Amino acid sequence: MMGVTMAFGERVLFRDLNLALNHGETIGISGPSGGGKSTLLRIAVNLVSPTAGRVLFHGKDVTEWDPRELRRSMILVPQQASMFPGNVRENLLWGLRIHRLEASEERLRDVLSQVNLPVSMLDKTAGNLSGGEKQRVAIARALLLEPEVLLLDEPTAALDDDSTEVVEESIQRVISDQDIGVMIVTHNSEQAQRLADRIIEIGNSRGGQ
Ligand SMILES: Nc1ncnc2c1ncn2[C@@H]1O[C@H](COP(=O)(O)OP(=O)(O)OP(=O)(O)O)[C@@H](O)[C@H]1O
Ligand SMILES: [Mg+2]
Repeated sequence: MMGVTMAFGERVLFRDLNLALNHGETIGISGPSGGGKSTLLRIAVNLVSPTAGRVLFHGKDVTEWDPRELRRSMILVPQQASMFPGNVRENLLWGLRIHRLEASEERLRDVLSQVNLPVSMLDKTAGNLSGGEKQRVAIARALLLEPEVLLLDEPTAALDDDSTEVVEESIQRVISDQDIGVMIVTHNSEQAQRLADRIIEIGNSRGGQ
């Protein structure tokens, strides 16, 4: 990210932000509610355009990437993990289907175990899962696409301490097993410290004035 500024009307969320996510690195993003953390992730994947500045991925501006290709390489798991009708297997395959890809049953089991979920989960109705289980299915769904960069928006914000611990362990496993770059938004500064190589504060500048 080069010189990225984001403002809504008069309100400046961040100004002239320069940030490089190195290969295999995990960056924690913390800051107050409404500070612009989710917006920053949306800018990274070109869902929102910044007021000024550019985002480069492999040296190429994200606006110049083929959206389908970009969305496969850089995956945003949003704050509220959404499940589609059907069982967990169908939910996992959904992400692949958009890209006209398939996965073997073995691969599905593999990603489930990466996020600490039992194989029996595959046939469960996704809508009936707990918040923490949905969060982990959403992460598994992203992993199936073998992204280079994974953007996690408050993966544990809505969870109790026990579920938080399980999801955190899953993320930890993903970080150490895979050679991917991760940006993780969290309100929880201890969590940021546990998971991230370094931490960026967003939105504490009072509009940067
Ligand atoms: N499309 C938009 N138009 C106007 N204002 C917006 C828009 N999107 C976000 N905002 C505002 O930008 C600010 C930052 O929002 P954002 O969701 O990025 O914050 P956040 O740091 O992720 O907060 P939280 O921790 O509560 O998730 C908020 O005040 C929000 O109302
Ligand atoms: Mg947010």
